[in-house]
Amino acid sequence: MRTRVTDLLGIRHPVLLGPMGGGTDARLVAAVSHAGGLGLLAASFLTPEAIEAEVAMIRELTPMPFGVNLLLWRSADKVEAVLQHQPTVFSTAFGDPAPYVDLAHEAGALHVHMVSDVPSAVAAARAGVDVIIAQGEEGGGHVGLQSTFTLVPQVVDAVDIPVVAAGGIGDGRGLAAALALGAEGVLMGTRFLATREAPIPDGWKRAILDAAGHDTVRTSIPDYASESAWPEPIAARAIRNAFLDRWLGREEEVRRLGNVLGDQLREARRRDDPSEMNLLAGEVVGLIHDLPSAGALVERIVKEAEALLPQLAAKASGRAAPNADR
Ligand SMILES: Cc1cc2nc3c(=O)[nH]c(=O)nc-3n(C[C@H](O)[C@H](O)[C@H](O)COP(=O)(O)O)c2cc1C
Repeated sequence: MRTRVTDLLGIRHPVLLGPMGGGTDARLVAAVSHAGGLGLLAASFLTPEAIEAEVAMIRELTPMPFGVNLLLWRSADKVEAVLQHQPTVFSTAFGDPAPYVDLAHEAGALHVHMVSDVPSAVAAARAGVDVIIAQGEEGGGHVGLQSTFTLVPQVVDAVDIPVVAAGGIGDGRGLAAALALGAEGVLMGTRFLATREAPIPDGWKRAILDAAGHDTVRTSIPDYASESAWPEPIAARAIRNAFLDRWLGREEEVRRLGNVLGDQLREARRRDDPSEMNLLAGEVVGLIHDLPSAGALVERIVKEAEALLPQLAAKASGRAAPNADR
């Protein structure tokens, strides 16, 4: 499968690992890159020393391209700490990428920026970024207001640079659908959390396997609990558990308690208690039933999509599809 995204990034498969604070590390990033996708390391919550160590480990594990990500609204002070390591890709999200495009290019990196609405995509393209990630609100972690199915084609129509679809993608059907919407690749977060390499507690992985598609909620409670002021209208999507059920509808109290609750969430993560920790994940949980290795997952998704594309053409023309199993 070859698109402008695979050509530009120098990768074999149009599959990107979503950078995830607390959910991506060198091992997972390297596994995805080594399988021919593009691993992206979330660096916003790492010290400059930790960024250096993670990047060194990625390079030890694979010679393939990889990227490093920053949440611009909170971690723009780490741009230099990231770019000095000259990653293949500088990935940014939630903020204005314009001040950093030239710096990224001067460091030899391609600049990939994630958006959740059309005006931000147009502004980022004008600023000179190389690839847009269009992330829909069914995605896990922090998301905007528009769904992937409507956002991706609207972004594709609005910019000339390649677009990658994110939010709600978990298998080859998602990749094929993203291509149909005009995207030239996919970025997946939640699906990669349910892999052997993902550096999250087992209870979080089990919760993803057990959850149905309607079990997630878009809420600011985890942000109020960690006293972090994400830009409007961004909020977090997480699996509902006892913690969220206790606090949903009591946002003002959560705001007042702030870090008291944040400490409880962190402590629950330490003791691996999925009923009380922050289970960031997207609606795609309902499609996730196994814990493969990240590399096997990349291969599987691409194979599924490759098999599906000719079947779709046959289906749409009324002919019986060869080997159609869906
Ligand atoms: C636990 C978690 C942490 C995340 N942290 C970041 C981050 O630090 N930077 C970023 O740009 N996106 C972050 N995201 C968003 C993902 O990169 C990606 O856009 C999203 O997971 C796509 O939706 P999906 O989960 O349905 O695949 C995070 C997502 C999750 C689930």
